[in-house]
Amino acid sequence: MIVTRSLTKRFGSFLAVDQVSLDVREGDRYGFLGPNGSGKTTVIRMLLGLVYASSGQIEVLGQPMPASAAQVLAQVGSLVEGPAAYRHLSGRANLALIDAAGPAGGRRSRQARIGEALDRVGLAGIDNRAVAKYSLGMRQRLGLAAALLRTPRLLILDEPANGLDPRGIREMRDLMTALNEAGTTIFLSSHQLSEVEQLCSRVGIIDRGRLILQDDLATLQAPTGRVVIRSSDPGRMAAALDGQVQHRDGDLLIVAAPDPAALNARLVSAGIPVDELRPERRSLEDLVLSLTSAGADRVDRPAEAGAEARPPARAVQSGGADQSAGPVQPGRAGQPVGADQPAGTDQPAGTDQPGGPDQKTGADQKAGADQKAGADQKDGGSR
Ligand SMILES: Nc1ncnc2c1ncn2[C@@H]1O[C@H](COP(=O)(O)OP(=O)(O)OP(=O)(O)O)[C@@H](O)[C@H]1O
Ligand SMILES: [Mg+2]
Repeated sequence: MIVTRSLTKRFGSFLAVDQVSLDVREGDRYGFLGPNGSGKTTVIRMLLGLVYASSGQIEVLGQPMPASAAQVLAQVGSLVEGPAAYRHLSGRANLALIDAAGPAGGRRSRQARIGEALDRVGLAGIDNRAVAKYSLGMRQRLGLAAALLRTPRLLILDEPANGLDPRGIREMRDLMTALNEAGTTIFLSSHQLSEVEQLCSRVGIIDRGRLILQDDLATLQAPTGRVVIRSSDPGRMAAALDGQVQHRDGDLLIVAAPDPAALNARLVSAGIPVDELRPERRSLEDLVLSLTSAGADRVDRPAEAGAEARPPARAVQSGGADQSAGPVQPGRAGQPVGADQPAGTDQPAGTDQPGGPDQKTGADQKAGADQKAGADQKDGGSR
């Protein structure tokens, strides 16, 4: 459904996307992950023909992009960073304009289509309030409704859960699942790893412009060969499993055991209470944090000499690293940290990029409130 070969994008001397080869298959629910400033939105914009690639090839629905944009985009629903809308118009009026501007859809059925899209995203009861008065979550839902106007074969969504509350996030997930079951392939970027874990069948991880991993989630999260056990009598359990226990924390034990069922049977037959027993799997969060560097929107101390001699992305550990200390993560091509700060100088024409890059500040925070802070700022730029 989406294939890119060595897709590359430079903004001046800054290498934002570096030889990315994506492979999204029909029926996938594909999660596109990576730190702030790693290039996700830039890739998505290239997929949709919103910015030109510097080099490399793109095929969407089997057709070259942007050469076949008219044909391809008629079958693609998209939502890119802070959906744009006429703020003085109502949501319905905005959707009517989008519908009218889109490929043939039939005027007579327009209101029905809009009603159905609003219904799907939970805005069925929307009044005539202007979009300017919408909450962030409502605006995000409206953007999603626009993407759904014509049951698309492929949905390309840039952080669709941005600004949604927990209930909204679940509704979004249910909607994606239902659309996928009905045949829509889904490609979405997200920072909400637990969401991606629950929704996606396949993930790609991008770091500093490079695709560092692409695989089925089930493969990435295959059991590690260890078992997590909880017992109300952990002392007895530990004694019974002597030699196999690799870690103990209170009533929780991590035990080397390739066959959880056999282990369970053994414990039960020995009369040891088993409160919980499950195969250990790597969390997506662990995986992402171990593979990626800190977000490019971080502004740390200036780099010392020799910044170029940094280790490759794969080797960089981040996550728990002390935010105030440690080596600065230099950008690519000798760009300093915060390389996503350099205003809109290179901003391509017709972009709906909402305002300056520092709007992204806080977008790497997982908590809803912080996201709102960041996303609210996007709002200002979408006029
Ligand atoms: N028009 C532009 N001109 C110059 N640099 C740009 C432009 N658009 C993006 N960039 C830079 O390219 C890099 C990748 O940005 P991009 O928006 O694709 O990141 P992202 O992965 O979507 O980040 P986030 O998770 O914060 O949304 C950033 O360093 C950004 O500053
Ligand atoms: Mg982005």
